[in-house]
Amino acid sequence: MPEKSYVLITGATGGIGAAFARAFAARHHHLILTGRQSARLRTFSAELANAYPITVLPVKADLTREFDLDRLIGVMDEHNIQVLINNAGFSHHERFDRVPFSRWQDMVTLHCTASIRLIHQVLPEMIRQKGGIIINVSSLNALFPMPHTGVYAGSKAMLNALSEALYWELKIHGIQVQVLCPGLTDTKFLKRSNDTTGNAHEARGWMWQTPEDVVAASLAGLRRDRLFCIPGWHNRLLVTLGKMAPRRWYYPLAIRFFQNVMPTEPAE
Ligand SMILES: NC(=O)c1ccc[n+]([C@@H]2O[C@H](COP(=O)([O-])OP(=O)(O)OC[C@H]3O[C@@H](n4cnc5c(N)ncnc54)[C@H](OP(=O)(O)O)[C@@H]3O)[C@@H](O)[C@H]2O)c1
Repeated sequence: MPEKSYVLITGATGGIGAAFARAFAARHHHLILTGRQSARLRTFSAELANAYPITVLPVKADLTREFDLDRLIGVMDEHNIQVLINNAGFSHHERFDRVPFSRWQDMVTLHCTASIRLIHQVLPEMIRQKGGIIINVSSLNALFPMPHTGVYAGSKAMLNALSEALYWELKIHGIQVQVLCPGLTDTKFLKRSNDTTGNAHEARGWMWQTPEDVVAASLAGLRRDRLFCIPGWHNRLLVTLGKMAPRRWYYPLAIRFFQNVMPTEPAE
C-alpha cells in the first residue's frame, strides 16, 4: 500500500462535504472527492490543489449506481485511505406514496448500501495500520422521524446503529467512528429535497447552522472521541427534550413547530 494517505469524502461538490474538504485541505491532507457534478468537482478539486500543497483526486460517481461504486472501490484499492467520510445524501420531502419507489430505493442505496460498502473496503487496511477515522453523516431526523421523512430518517437511523456498533467493535483497533447528526444546515439540501415546499429554505432563523459550523463541531467531537456529534446547543436541547417528552405530546408540538421551517404538506 502506498505511503501517502488520503481523506475520502463522498458528496464533496457542495454543502457539508465541501466544508469538510476545505477543513482537511487547510490541514494539508490529501483528498479523494466524489460527486455527480463533474465540472463542479473538477473546479473545486483544482482550487484546493492550487491553494494547498496537497493532491486532490476527483472521482465522478453516482453512488446509487453499482458501476460507479465499483469504479470508486477500484480507486480506493490503489490508495491508502486514512479518513472516510460518508457524507453524500439527499432527502425527498413529500408524502410517501407520491414519490416514485425508485427514488426511495436510491435513497436507501446511497445512505445504507454505499456507506456499508465503502466502510467494508477501508477497514482491513485501517485495522492493519491500527488507525483510521470513519465519519458517517446522518441527521437529527434519524432520532426523531417527522412526517414525509420516513425513508430518509430510517436510512439515516441505520447509519446511527451501524456507527454505534462499529465504534465499540473498532475501538481496540485504534479506529475512531463518529456519527454526525446535523440539524437544519444552510446548504442546497432542503431546496433539492422538494422544490414544491415553497420558500421553506429561505426562511432561515436561529435554528440554522452553516456547513462550517457543522464541520467544526464534528472535528471537535473527534478530538474528544465522541461517537454521537450533534452540532449546535439548540439541536442538543431539542434531542434532550424530545427524549424526555412522551411521543404523543412531542409530535403535535414538533409538527406545528417545524411547519414554519419545513412545511409538511406541500401544495397539490
Ligand atoms: N442540510 C441539512 O439541513 C442537513 C441536515 C441533516 C443532515 N444532512 C446530511 O448532510 C449530508 C450532506 O448534505 P448537504 O446539506 O451538504 O447537502 P447538499 O449541499 O445537497 O450536498 C449533498 C452532496 O451529496 C451528493 N450526492 C447526492 N446524491 C448523490 C448520489 N446519488 N451519488 C453521489 N453523490 C450524491 C451531492 O453531489 P452532486 O451534487 O454532485 O450530485 C452533494 O455533493 C447529507 O447526507 C444529508 O443527509 C443535511
